[in-house]
Amino acid sequence: MFAQAIRVESDYSPQPQPAKVALLGTGTVGLAVLQRLSEWSGTSFGHRLNLVYAANSRLSLKDLAGLDPALCAAALSEAPKCDRRTPPSDVLTALGDSGIRIVIDATADGEVAANHPALLDAGIHVATACKLAAGTDLALWQDIQSACERGGSRFGDRATVGAGLPLLRSLRELQQGGDRIHAIAGVMSGSLAWLFDRFDGSRPFSALVREAQARGYTEPDPREDLSGEDVRRKILILARAAGFPIESGCVDVASLVPLALSRLTPAEALDRLELLDPPIQAKLDEARSQGGSLRFVARLKEGCARVGLEILGPNDPLNGGSGTDNRVAIWSDRYRSQPLVIQGPGAGAEVTAAALLDDVIQAWARGASLRGEPFSP
Ligand SMILES: NC(=O)c1ccc[n+]([C@@H]2O[C@H](COP(=O)([O-])OP(=O)(O)OC[C@H]3O[C@@H](n4cnc5c(N)ncnc54)[C@H](OP(=O)(O)O)[C@@H]3O)[C@@H](O)[C@H]2O)c1
Repeated sequence: MFAQAIRVESDYSPQPQPAKVALLGTGTVGLAVLQRLSEWSGTSFGHRLNLVYAANSRLSLKDLAGLDPALCAAALSEAPKCDRRTPPSDVLTALGDSGIRIVIDATADGEVAANHPALLDAGIHVATACKLAAGTDLALWQDIQSACERGGSRFGDRATVGAGLPLLRSLRELQQGGDRIHAIAGVMSGSLAWLFDRFDGSRPFSALVREAQARGYTEPDPREDLSGEDVRRKILILARAAGFPIESGCVDVASLVPLALSRLTPAEALDRLELLDPPIQAKLDEARSQGGSLRFVARLKEGCARVGLEILGPNDPLNGGSGTDNRVAIWSDRYRSQPLVIQGPGAGAEVTAAALLDDVIQAWARGASLRGEPFSP
């Protein structure tokens, strides 16, 4: 009798109304988000979300009754190229002014990123894969924190560093438990991890860069990866989450791109990648003479951050991992001599989309609890 009463109660799990979701960006990551949403159709996860808006820089689709993710992926990917930019007002009209509302940012657009504080202030939750909001100007990061504190909206950033590896989560949870973060060091770029995992001097570094580009591991212009700017944004995001609100300019970045290569157009640069080879080969020779290995590393210690190529000794905690794996070590009050090490696939559309949708589900739960609606997570 008692067991039956419990079973009847657990069968009764009233759910709040679904969140209205807007997706910005239908490139590699955005299409993977649509794919995952379409796989969720008819499941309890799918029932929590109603995709009402999807856009890229050319076209937007809106349906308050709900877009079919599979159909809108096809429609958006076939949209002709033109100069149209999505005005934020489009998104606001689609989301309306009540209910749980969530914007997914799968763009690399600074204007979209700069608009996040306004969305959060309007009570709209944001889940982003784009590093331009939290990994650039400190003022923008502070605006985002303040907007979240004022309105209770959630800013989901787990896809920005390590493509959803539990890095930001671990930093925040350690601090919530009273721990203080002392230092962070990591291999945080999938493309640079792959390049230095492979580079043994048997082929010129430039040949490996061309192969990485052909495999889609680098940006179309590989100098964007080799400059270290992407890693600068990642260590800034981690540093700020670890309690060190530092300015972008406080990160010392040692670019791998020689001046002569940096001055060329993207097309010219691809023809002259051999300019990379002499200094990097010299660094490999130096590493070998010391019995070490080369890795492109970001470090934060005592509020100072730097990014660049390092020679790691055989027992360094950043050694290990393969392919495009990220590997990050965290030192804190409780992890003083032996760091906490987190390693795994830190790039790729599928894991990034999964991380974005983790944040969307968290935002749905936050929205439901703010509205006092009962829900089972
Ligand atoms: N790819 C990965 O593995 C990965 C991993 C982690 C994080 N990320 C981050 O995720 C973001 C997306 O990466 P991606 O590889 O998917 O880039 P992508 O393939 O270049 O796609 C970017 C998308 O954003 C759209 N877009 C640009 N401006 C827009 C605007 N104002 N409004 C709406 N849409 C706009 C583009 O439209 P068009 O289609 O019209 O050009 C395109 O669909 C980036 O910030 C990236 O750094 C990517």
